[in-house]
Order: sequence, then structure tokens, then C-alpha cells
Amino acid sequence: MIRLMGMRAFSSLPRWSGRVLAGLWLLAAPGSAVADGRPGAFPAWSFSGPLGHFDLASVQRGYGVYAAVCSACHGLEQVHYSDLAGMGLKAEDIQALSAARQTMDGLDAEGHVQRRPARPDDRILSPYVSPAAARAANRGVAPPDLSRVVMVRPGGASRIYGLLTGYAPDAHWQEGRGFRNPYGISGFTAMPPPLHEGGAQYADGTAATVAQQARDVTTFLAWVSAPHQDERRRLGVGAALYLCFLAGLFMILTRRIWSYVSK
Ligand code: HEC
Repeated sequence: MIRLMGMRAFSSLPRWSGRVLAGLWLLAAPGSAVADGRPGAFPAWSFSGPLGHFDLASVQRGYGVYAAVCSACHGLEQVHYSDLAGMGLKAEDIQALSAARQTMDGLDAEGHVQRRPARPDDRILSPYVSPAAARAANRGVAPPDLSRVVMVRPGGASRIYGLLTGYAPDAHWQEGRGFRNPYGISGFTAMPPPLHEGGAQYADGTAATVAQQARDVTTFLAWVSAPHQDERRRLGVGAALYLCFLAGLFMILTRRIWSYVSK
């Protein structure tokens, strides 16, 4: 009887192991759609899926787009310049990158906002001195902070990519509604079309098309929303492999031990 149970456990191994392997393969496969600039086609995000990882070159280019374009209206207040080291930058790079940006530094004797070059331990602040100033500069709608936008807004990375690339070529402000955009809430958004061909310069020679900038800045915002995701996944895969190894070891041991008993 005991022997029979042991045999049954082993004879069922190939069947379920095949299914487990198929499952692992499915988990490893990245998103299905391909980026070809068509409206409604989303890039295959390298970071989606349980075994995904961030393309750090794209994250770095995305920071370039944020700094050149989006930072005119949006802050990343939960991010410090020093956190950008996680994109694969060295301390000197962070120093140079923060010094190139201005940040607010209190008020002077007359109550005017003081500005100075940012330091690595500064947060990436909104450019506006107050929410009221942000609203006043943007037809009554304050640009939201982008620190966690990929995580907290519905639709994640693909909807943000859709929003950035989804404006009609002749997009114009419609009073009381905004700019027509199928990816905006209720089909409109108060954000003017932010991306233009060549709007950001890429140091690595990548052509700065609208689709490429949208892809890179969305990848950057996804990374900013979950900067430790890759580490957690690596740890998870390591733990899963270790558990598989242990399970195999225990099976062999069980078989050995019970083989003595059943004789
Ligand atoms: C001229 C100012 C301005 C610039 C530049 C700008 N935005 Fe916006 N953005 C806004 C405003 C205003 C809103 C609020 C829109 C609304 O709620 O209708 C907004 C909203 C957003 C949202 C949230 C939209 C939603 O529906 O969830 C995202 C994401 C966003 N912007 C990303 C970006 C990115 C990325 C860039 C740079 C490529 C950028 N923005 C550049 C003004 C701007």
C-alpha cells in the first residue's frame, strides 16, 4: 500500500511538471502588443508580467523627457534626486543632474520665493509655489504629481502612453471640456499635448519621435512608481528555484526512506 502511494506520486510527476513548465513560460512572456506608433497600439512593456524587468536605458531617456518637458508642469515630490541612482547613475552623474535644475528654497524678506540649484538630497518639487498657482497656470486644473501616477491611476502604463500619443493632430482647447483625447477621463484632458517631434534631445542618439518619447517617459514613470520591483522579482525567482530544489530533494529522500519500510 505504502509502495503504491509512492509510485502514484512519481508516476504523476511528468504530467503536472509539463503544466508547471508551460505556466512558467507563459509568465516569462512579455506583453503582447507591439509599438509601431499606431493609435491604440501599446509598446510591449519589458517591465510587465511577473518576470519582467526595467530597460534602464529607456528609464534614463525617460528622465530626460521628464526634465525637458513634463517638469515644466509636474512634480515628482516623493522622489529625491539621489533616488535616481537606481536608474544606473553614479554619484557624480546625480550631482551634475541635480545641479542643472532649480528648486524652491523658502521666501526672502519680502516674501518672494527663493530658488537655487538643486542638491542630490532635494525632492523633485512641483514648479508651482502652491496648488492655487498650479491651477491658475493650467486653466483651473492642477497638474497631478507624477511620483506614483502609473500605480494609482486606472489603466497603468499603457493608458498614460495612450494619453501622451492619443491627441488628434489639430487638438485644441474646448471651453469647459479640455483637449479631446480618447485616453483622458471622459474623453478629454486639461493637459495640452506635451510631446512634439524632437522635443527632447537624446544623448544616446535614439531618434526622439513622439512615440519614442512617450514610451521612454512612461517607462521612467513606471520605474519611479515601483523602483524596487526588479529586485523583488529577482528575489522571488531565487526563492522559487530554491523551493523547487528543496521539493526535489525531499521527494528523493521520501522515496529512499519509504523504500526501506516497504521492503
Ligand atoms: C503645460 C503643462 C503640462 C505639461 C508640460 C505636461 N502636463 Fe501632464 N498634465 C497637465 C495638466 C493640467 C493635467 C491635468 C489633466 C486633467 O486632469 O484633465 C495633467 C495630467 C497628466 C497626467 C494624468 C492624466 C490622467 O488622465 O490620469 C499624466 C500621467 C501626465 N499629465 C503626464 C505628463 C507627462 C508624462 C508629461 C511630459 C511628457 C506632461 N504630463 C507634461 C499639464 C501638463
